[in-house]
Amino acid sequence: MGGAYSSLLALDLIKAAPVHPFDLHKGTEGKKVIILGAGLAGMTAAYELNKLGYECTILEARDRVGGRCWSIRGGSTNIETEHGAHTAAFDKGLYFNAGPSRIPHHHELSMHYCKEFGVQLEVYNNINEAAYYFSEGNGPLSGKKIRKREIHNDVRGYMTELLAKAIDQGQIQMAMTKDDVEKIVHYLEAEGGLDRDKLYKASARRGYKVPPGVYEGEYSEAYPLMDILSSGLMEPDFYNVAEYTYELQMTMFQAVGGMDMIAKALGERVKPAVNLGAEVSSIKNTDTGVKVVYKTAAGEKEIEGDMCICTIPLPVLSYIDHNFSGTVTRAIDYATYNKTGKIGLQFKRRFWEEDERIYGGITHTNNELTQIFYPSNEYQSNKGVLIGYYNFGDKAERVGELSYAEREKLALEKGAMIHPQYNNEFENSFSVTWHKTKYNMGGWAEYNSQTRESIYKVLLEPEKNVYFAGEHMTYLNAWMAGAFESARSVVAEIHTRVSGQNFKYPKTTG
Ligand code: ALA
Repeated sequence: MGGAYSSLLALDLIKAAPVHPFDLHKGTEGKKVIILGAGLAGMTAAYELNKLGYECTILEARDRVGGRCWSIRGGSTNIETEHGAHTAAFDKGLYFNAGPSRIPHHHELSMHYCKEFGVQLEVYNNINEAAYYFSEGNGPLSGKKIRKREIHNDVRGYMTELLAKAIDQGQIQMAMTKDDVEKIVHYLEAEGGLDRDKLYKASARRGYKVPPGVYEGEYSEAYPLMDILSSGLMEPDFYNVAEYTYELQMTMFQAVGGMDMIAKALGERVKPAVNLGAEVSSIKNTDTGVKVVYKTAAGEKEIEGDMCICTIPLPVLSYIDHNFSGTVTRAIDYATYNKTGKIGLQFKRRFWEEDERIYGGITHTNNELTQIFYPSNEYQSNKGVLIGYYNFGDKAERVGELSYAEREKLALEKGAMIHPQYNNEFENSFSVTWHKTKYNMGGWAEYNSQTRESIYKVLLEPEKNVYFAGEHMTYLNAWMAGAFESARSVVAEIHTRVSGQNFKYPKTTG
């Protein structure tokens, strides 16, 4: 089989990853698995274990399923430490995805479950050359909104011009024949839009000052390279990462009607197992299995099972009583999660479409907003919710310290510098700061090469009868595919242990 499998792989007839073979067979009825957390990982584990005949109980602290896979609609409520509870007031039919908002086309497991559950997908327009770069600071181009196509084409043009000249003048120390040089220079001319003299001049690529009609139209003028540079538009906030990052390359997808359609579909399939409003307070390995204590509105309860799958985010798990080893305890306590936040802003009118012809995509800034996401659905409808900021790290930390009202004020003030329509069209907002959100206390797990060893690898092994799962237990951090992959991995591991079926889900690459 091994030989046949690798030949099929070589012929590109089977996909190597990330959907790994998962041919588990029924054979061990009645084992009890307690699953902590009704996010995507916990529910997927229950869904797959149910198929194999296990008896699953899911304990979920919140009054909803889905965890971070959550779309904010009118009536959605969140609780942040320090800032308390608040409720969204979006109109019926309007929403934004507070957690995952985009699915890469190569996240086969995410695509697989959407198909299996009949969750409808639509294209998520992650890359839009009509969206803006906005640099606050010094320089002649700062404080101006500039279409991405203008900066991208100008910078690409100037960079290829520099390189073409250097190569042509023999200034690159590489063994190249005259023919090689010619081919490379032609490539650079085409890539950068250079003229016959290898000079970058504006072309239709960067857009028009007067767009063509029955008449010819007039190209817009290129910005001088030094103006782009001195205005901060070549600094990290504006690196053209979206186009190049593997996960952010088009085609990307979103679930029609909100990303939590995925969580809801899963929730329906595991409904009898789910206990909402069940906040875990203690997880203990026993001689025969696991004992979990949890709080409910009706008081404290206790449950025992043969095994436990714990998907609780590590910064939350760190405060829960358990009897894990010192090494595992340290791994949980020292795990690092990122800081991140989003705000949804409801507007009376889709001015970004009507006035500015922006249909989906992202504007990038170097201020606290970091990014503005325009909705990739319901184009040309009346109202809309856009994501007024989606920030990370220090910026998310500073904004997360603000009250809900102050965050709204900041999003509106900074946003109005780009879209003055904010001043007349705004209706209401809802912000989520994930590192302050009760039951999350972080956006997603972040590892470096050292913590992959000291934390990740430690938690990859079960702690007696307790298995750890979630996006944090993969290299697909911050992606739904991580939750799905991790769930499958622990299900395979549990089933292999219980049933003796000789099956190995790949834990490491290579
Ligand atoms: N998966 C996260 C996003 O799409 C990082 O922004």
